[in-house]
Amino acid sequence: MSDPHVAIVGATGAVGHEFLRVLEERAFPLRSLKLLASERSAGRRLPFRGEDHVVEALADDSFRGIDVAFFSAGGGTAKAYARLASDCGAVVIDNSSAFRLVDGVPLVVPEVNAEAIAGHDGILANPNCSTILLVLALAPLQRRCGLTRVVVSTYQAASGAGQRAVAELRSATRAVLADEPPPTAAALPQTLAFNVFPHVDVFMADGYTREEDKMLYEVRKILAMPELRVDATCVRVPVERCHSESVAVELERALSPTEARALFAGAPGVVLQDDPHGNDYPMPRAYSGKDPVAVGRVRQGRVFEPGLTFWLVGDQLKKGAALNAVQIAEAL
Ligand code: A2P
Repeated sequence: MSDPHVAIVGATGAVGHEFLRVLEERAFPLRSLKLLASERSAGRRLPFRGEDHVVEALADDSFRGIDVAFFSAGGGTAKAYARLASDCGAVVIDNSSAFRLVDGVPLVVPEVNAEAIAGHDGILANPNCSTILLVLALAPLQRRCGLTRVVVSTYQAASGAGQRAVAELRSATRAVLADEPPPTAAALPQTLAFNVFPHVDVFMADGYTREEDKMLYEVRKILAMPELRVDATCVRVPVERCHSESVAVELERALSPTEARALFAGAPGVVLQDDPHGNDYPMPRAYSGKDPVAVGRVRQGRVFEPGLTFWLVGDQLKKGAALNAVQIAEAL
């Protein structure tokens, strides 16, 4: 595919903005760019490569002549329009959870399972943001020593819940600082200002959340380990951008922290930042807008034997969403 005609569905959203930034930053070789969103946004102008592009309302005929369609407008929109777009000849890379676990739809992190891309039939799925960040660190461990169990707690930024959630965090923080009651939470399930809550996406019958289920089933699919045990607790924290994760893994064969640091430092898409005695470890502020996932606090685990415990941080809008999808398109 040379110099494709590209569409972004959900161009006005948090991930949509990131798509524009990433396509510009990587000088993605596109021939034309069509920006699509809901009717509410029709007529808005968004800058790309120095020119304003007018946002169009998504419609059945939006995909005529489009070669690559990046979707980031939620699962309902993806279910309604992705197949239609691929029937029009576009390759769809969808950021929602609608197709991720569908048999035959590749779920891809290019540094980890690029080989899966070849099997697509018009739709590819971009994994959940927390999952993308996690598998970049798990894949090198799996390859070197085998992996049997993973326990992960996330510290997820407000922007993972969309732009309205960021606005809500800001206004609630202003209210609390002014000793006023914060506005009732709407985009998020609770007030996030000066708070954290263990509630990302909806609760399932067994007490886990859907976000926690995504981490289990998507990690299994990407790593091709259908039996892997992954116990996730997903927590929203009052950070604007970048998810963090605390990870404990059980390995099949022992790996010392020193060997693990060298492994992470050489792993694609990963950087090592690990000098705790110099107060040097990854934090969300430092990795906002950056490509790699940063790993630190690598240590011998105290529960799993053999095992490791570590911390990671990555920009969930960038590598956790737009950048990963653009890398899939580049691989195509
Ligand atoms: P709009 O801005 O017109 O509502 P976020 O995740 O930041 O909330 O962004 C969601 C994105 O998905 C926005 O660009 C939003 O457009 C778009 N979107 C939501 N629902 C639809 C829909 N039914 N059709 C097209 N785009 C939609």
